[in-house]
Amino acid sequence: MEVVHYSVLKDEVLSYLKPSGAGELYIDCTTGEGGHSEALLSTYSDINLVCLDADKDILKVAEERLKPFKGRVKFCNTWFNHYLANYPTDSKRPDKILFDLGISTYHYEKSGRGFSFRKDEPLSMELGADLVVSAADMVNNYPAERLADIIYNYGEERYSRRIAKALAEAREAGAITTAAQLADIVYHAVPEAYRHGKIHPATRTFQALRIAVNGELERLSEALENALKVLAPGGRIGVITFHSLEDRIVKNFFRDKEKDCICPDSAPRCTCGRNHRMVNIITKKPIVPSDKEIKENAASRSSKLRVAEKVAV
Ligand SMILES: C[S@@+](CC[C@H](N)C(=O)[O-])C[C@H]1O[C@@H](n2cnc3c(N)ncnc32)[C@H](O)[C@@H]1O
Repeated sequence: MEVVHYSVLKDEVLSYLKPSGAGELYIDCTTGEGGHSEALLSTYSDINLVCLDADKDILKVAEERLKPFKGRVKFCNTWFNHYLANYPTDSKRPDKILFDLGISTYHYEKSGRGFSFRKDEPLSMELGADLVVSAADMVNNYPAERLADIIYNYGEERYSRRIAKALAEAREAGAITTAAQLADIVYHAVPEAYRHGKIHPATRTFQALRIAVNGELERLSEALENALKVLAPGGRIGVITFHSLEDRIVKNFFRDKEKDCICPDSAPRCTCGRNHRMVNIITKKPIVPSDKEIKENAASRSSKLRVAEKVAV
């Protein structure tokens, strides 16, 4: 078994999600190849862990890697928002919940699903087997305006309209079926100067399509609500994000739950019924990787860890 993913902010996860009692239950919502799970299980010999991932192939890698911890770890191939929404009320509540969002190096390098603009692979980008609209379906069938919105909203791509127009024109000549084809169309759609920037000109378009295919932002918002509901009082949620769209959702969620009243400022009296804050934000500013980590793994440079603790009432 070869592991290709470098787990970001590992020491920080271990320190902020340290157990505060005996026999704690953890949920790793985004197990991937199991890097954070392995670190948690080997550092804290008394914890039990539930490992989730929407991708059954990568979860198999984690199962193999985490064999030494048999008996303390369970695996579940599911979307984290589904798992948390259906968490049985009579089960032990988790004490720590970790999200390390997005996709893994495994997806770019080994999945064969068209996540990377460097590979000539079928354009699927699906993480879960239950999805029905692939990236190829989107680029071949969605109206150009809808594609432009996706690329702008989920990729923050300033040339979204030009790219969408180029995709709509290209598909007239034949279906766009591979990641390499998509990357080539985007490359030629953007201005010459933009082709030689810090990142490949198709990076943002690929990110946008992946987020849209997998409904990543909607799943995150739903999952955070339910994570807080199922978490044991005094328990912690840690979230690692990689771009501003995700980070904004997490920051606003924690800030909202830290308020003891959510009535508008103009309200003459409180009617929201929330009479206490639901979390304490532990990381007033997001935790970012050290220079040493960024040197070891340049891809970690955009990662941010935010942690909140559920108020015990
Ligand atoms: C950045 S990787 C996790 C890497 C892992 N923490 C490690 O150290 O090896 C994110 C993982 O989350 C999974 N994932 C993304 N969104 C998900 C969702 N909504 N539900 C379940 N799994 C998801 C992806 O399939 C991927 O394997």
